[in-house]
Amino acid sequence: MRSAVGSRNGRLLETASARLESAGCDTPRLDAELLLAHALGVDRAQLYVEDLPVPAAFDALLARRAAREPVAYIIGYKDFRRIRLAVDRRVLIPRPETELLVEAAMSLSEGARVADVGTGSGAVALALKDERPDLEVSGFDLSEDALAVARDNALRLGLDVRFARADLLDDGQYDAVVANLPYVPSGVELQPEIAQYEPAAALFAGDDGLDAIRRLIARTGDVPFVAVEFGFGQEATVADLLGGHTEILRDLAGHERVVVARR
Ligand SMILES: C[S@@+](CC[C@H](N)C(=O)[O-])C[C@H]1O[C@@H](n2cnc3c(N)ncnc32)[C@H](O)[C@@H]1O
Repeated sequence: MRSAVGSRNGRLLETASARLESAGCDTPRLDAELLLAHALGVDRAQLYVEDLPVPAAFDALLARRAAREPVAYIIGYKDFRRIRLAVDRRVLIPRPETELLVEAAMSLSEGARVADVGTGSGAVALALKDERPDLEVSGFDLSEDALAVARDNALRLGLDVRFARADLLDDGQYDAVVANLPYVPSGVELQPEIAQYEPAAALFAGDDGLDAIRRLIARTGDVPFVAVEFGFGQEATVADLLGGHTEILRDLAGHERVVVARR
């Protein structure tokens, strides 16, 4: 597939990739390809088929990435499960490991009422509705900015999810609660892509990072199914807070990521 190497686009990618590497980007070649494909309006694979004339805009995209802006904000979208979500700096970029929350909720019974707490771009709520149209899905966030992004995504994807502003969730009755709330302890130093670009309110939650999760668990004691994503080293505390029988799910890298309580 690497037929572009040696071609004009191939040489351009080599230079772009070197520039991103020296700026400290983790995946410089992949990022350069994604940005070039975006500038050309083609799929990444097409870069290796045709040597297309490169628009001047590519250099500006590269400069943004070299300033450590995440690729998803530059190209304006992120794929999550089967859907493509529009994202910008109003919302956290959905992470692949959060797909575990959707996976866990696949076992819910027909017509279950589900609340996605801290919905951000609507990723979990919309992916769930996409794969399980029978579910009655609501998404909650404190941030009106995030809710605007989630509602736009729902409209574009044609998915019927109710989004509402709430501190955690409203007083409705739910059969299941899924949540990827902030869980980074205050003061933790994060890489520039996150610290300088993603919303702080989506990241930090008190000294041990568990302020929001602790409050959510206290409010959902009577909910039959609760699935919560957590951060490194938090599994024992979160499982403890949930009490009773819990299951821990691991992400593709083998890290413990999500705890599920079924009552
Ligand atoms: C880590 S982001 C996750 C976003 C989305 N669930 C995802 O996985 O891509 C956490 C989200 O929770 C929201 N949030 C933080 N505290 C909240 C609270 N007390 N009630 C509701 N939403 C909250 C933030 O605004 C942010 O959108």
